[in-house]
Amino acid sequence: MDLGIRGRKALLCGASRGLGRACALALAQEGVDVTIIARGSEALEEAAAEIAAANPVAVKTVAGDVTTKEGRAAALAACSRPDILLNNADGPLPGDYRDWSRNDWIDALDAMMLSPIEMMRLTVDGMMARGFGRIVNIVSRSVKIPQIELGLSNGARSGLVGFVAGLARQTIEHNVTINNLLPGIFDSDAQRQHVRALVEPDGRSFEELWRERAAANPARRFGRPEELGAYCAFLCSEHAGFITGQNLLIDGGSYPGTY
Ligand SMILES: NC(=O)c1ccc[n+]([C@@H]2O[C@H](COP(=O)([O-])OP(=O)(O)OC[C@H]3O[C@@H](n4cnc5c(N)ncnc54)[C@H](OP(=O)(O)O)[C@@H]3O)[C@@H](O)[C@H]2O)c1
Repeated sequence: MDLGIRGRKALLCGASRGLGRACALALAQEGVDVTIIARGSEALEEAAAEIAAANPVAVKTVAGDVTTKEGRAAALAACSRPDILLNNADGPLPGDYRDWSRNDWIDALDAMMLSPIEMMRLTVDGMMARGFGRIVNIVSRSVKIPQIELGLSNGARSGLVGFVAGLARQTIEHNVTINNLLPGIFDSDAQRQHVRALVEPDGRSFEELWRERAAANPARRFGRPEELGAYCAFLCSEHAGFITGQNLLIDGGSYPGTY
């Protein structure tokens, strides 16, 4: 299927590794020019080189932190009129809610709720004026299946999802869609870090916990980042203009509900 987005411009936050990088690659394979953002420049340049080597598109990099005003400004300076926006950054480490201070909560809200909202605020009017826009937020299944040790994520990301539910219904008439992708377990650096953080309290090895997590999923495996990248590319396609305000699980069937 031709996704009909050749020549479009995408701004992808958190895209040097893992799920964000897979989204950038999938869009580049569809002929989209990509601007990718991450804090660390080594992985960023490596990702850009890999994407550019395999695809005849323009690839720009921005080394910056999208949870800061400066980072967002640098991103938009590099790609001032994006047709496609991917919001993505780090999630929180697991912990006990008793240990979280007000500052921990403010940091979580900044990273997982307010930064993506700010990126949308800065780009959505231009998309509406131009008559095309696709915004995808990488969120987490934790907004549908609360994970007890990820309270900061359960809370902050629910705020984002709640905001998007209202905004997405105001932009769709201008062919601007906004959807949230809710990943389950994917094999990425962040997932490995998450499992590593569970090792000590649990007393079992990383390998044991890793295997146990895969076995607990109905697919008996972790998701592959490129599977999420392909989903993201479809949501950004011209064919997906009637899909908006949705919270889309991609989790190997681990969400246990019918609806
Ligand atoms: N993987 C999973 O199983 C899973 C499941 C549910 C939810 N999620 C969520 O999905 C998101 C992506 O996860 P992932 O597994 O792809 O993580 P990952 O492999 O660690 O990749 C995260 C990417 O985002 C960049 N990044 C992080 N914070 C940033 C910031 N403040 N500003 C700019 N770039 C930033 C990282 O580069 P730098 O570190 O160099 O900035 C990296 O390129 C996270 O929010 C995670 O919580 C993941």
